[in-house]
Amino acid sequence: MKVVIFGLGYVGCTAVGCITSQGHSVIGVDVSAAKVEALNAGLSPIREPGLAELIAAAKENGRLSATVEIGDALNDADIAIVCVGTPSGVDGAHNMSYIAQVSRAIAAAIKPNRAETGKGPLTVAYRSTMRPGTVDMMIAPIFRAALGDSFKQGVELVYNPEFLREATAIEDYFNPPKIVIGTHNGGPCATMDALHEGIEAPIFHVGYREAEITKFVDNTWHAVKVAFANEIGRVCENLEISASQVHQIFVSDTKLNISPYYTRPGGPFGGSCLPKDVRALQYIAGDSGSNTHLVDSLLRSNEAHKHHQFQRVTQGLEPEARILLVGLSFKADTDDLRESPAVDMVRKLLDAGYRVSVYDPSLKPENLVGQNLGYAYAFLPTIDTVLVDKATAEKGNYDVVVATNRTINDLMLGDLPVIDVSKIA
Ligand SMILES: NC(=O)c1ccc[n+]([C@@H]2O[C@H](COP(=O)([O-])OP(=O)(O)OC[C@H]3O[C@@H](n4cnc5c(N)ncnc54)[C@H](O)[C@@H]3O)[C@@H](O)[C@H]2O)c1
Repeated sequence: MKVVIFGLGYVGCTAVGCITSQGHSVIGVDVSAAKVEALNAGLSPIREPGLAELIAAAKENGRLSATVEIGDALNDADIAIVCVGTPSGVDGAHNMSYIAQVSRAIAAAIKPNRAETGKGPLTVAYRSTMRPGTVDMMIAPIFRAALGDSFKQGVELVYNPEFLREATAIEDYFNPPKIVIGTHNGGPCATMDALHEGIEAPIFHVGYREAEITKFVDNTWHAVKVAFANEIGRVCENLEISASQVHQIFVSDTKLNISPYYTRPGGPFGGSCLPKDVRALQYIAGDSGSNTHLVDSLLRSNEAHKHHQFQRVTQGLEPEARILLVGLSFKADTDDLRESPAVDMVRKLLDAGYRVSVYDPSLKPENLVGQNLGYAYAFLPTIDTVLVDKATAEKGNYDVVVATNRTINDLMLGDLPVIDVSKIA
C-alpha cells in the first residue's frame, strides 16, 4: 500500500519504520524541516531501539521519502495516518490545534473527484490521542467544509489508537495488546485490516467515541496502578514491612488481584470487608504519616457512585412512585447486609418519599444475628415492613423494578420496567 504519515515524532517515526518493513511505501510529512531532512537522509530523528536500522533499510530500498509539503502525496495514497502531537493546553485539555491544522491540510489535498478516479475513498486514520467526540465534532466538519456533504465518498475517517511504549516501540508495534478500530458505524475498515495483516492481537471494531476514550482509560488505569503501588509502598516502608515481598504476594493472586475481577462498571462496593478494611488502611496510613491520597478517595468515590445510582433510579419517577428493589444483601446468595449499597439505596428511596418493597430470597429478618442484625436495624429500621415474598413481588403493581444483582433472574415480572444498577452498559 501507499501510506502517508503525518507527524514524524515518536509515534509517526515508529510507524514509518514498521510499515516500510512490512513492504509498504511511505511518505512522511512533518512541519519540522529538520525531521524531514533526517528521514530523507535515511536517519531516524528520534532515538528508539532498532528504528535507525528500519529507517536506513527503508531509504535503501526506496520505500521512504519525507516532505514538509503534502503536495500531491495523497493522490494515489491508500491511507493517511495522523500522528501529530496533542500536548496539554493551559486548562489541561489537549491542545487540538495540530489535529485541526493537519486535518485542514489533508482535506485541501484530497482531489474532490477522488471517488471518480477508481481509487475509492482515502482512509484517514488518526492515531493521536484525542478526546471522545473529536472525529464527529471537529474532524468530520473540517472535511465536510472542504469536500461538501458527500465528503464520505472521498474520505473514510478512522480512529485507531496507538498503544506503543517508547523504548520498546517496535516490539509493541508488532505485538500490541489489542487493535482498536473506530469507524462511523462501528464496522470493519478493509484498509486498516490490510495494514494490520500479520499482527496478532485481539481486534475491536467500535464507534469513534469508544475508540477515542480507550487511551484515556488505559493511561489513567496505569497511573492508578502506579499511584496505588507507591501508596502501599510508602505505608510498608513507614511500618518497616518489606514492600517487595508484599508485592510478590499481591501479584501472585491472579484470581482477584491481577485479573478482570472488579473492573466492570456497575455497582458500588460494599459488604462486611471492603469498606471496613479500606477505612482501616486509611487510619493506618494516616497514623504512619503515609499520605495515601488515592486510598483516601475510595470511600468518597463509592458514595458518589451510590448517589449517581439513586439519581439514575429516581430520574423521571413520580413522587410516591412504587418501587420494587430486588436483592438487598451486598451480593446474591448471602444474607449479609453489612454495608450493602442496596440498604443505602432503599433508605434513600424511603427518605425521598417513594413506596418501596424489597425482595431478597436469601433474607429472613428473624434469622439475622449479631453485627448483621445490628446493621440492618440501624440503617433500615423498617426492614420488616418493606420485605415481600416472591408471590407478592411477582404480582405487585410497581412503577419500576430496581435490580441490584442476579436475583432478578428468579422473578417473573412481566413487562415491568427494570433498572439493573449492577451493570452500566
Ligand atoms: N509517545 C508515545 O509513546 C505515544 C504513545 C501512544 C500515543 N501517543 C499519542 O500520539 C500522538 C503523537 O505523539 P508523539 O509522542 O509522537 O508526539 P511528538 O511531539 O513526538 O510528534 C508530533 C509531531 O507532529 C508534528 N506536527 C505538528 N503539526 C503538524 C502538522 N500540521 N503537519 C505535520 N506534522 C505536524 C510535529 O512537528 C512533531 O514532529 C500524541 O497524541 C500522543 O498522545 C504517543
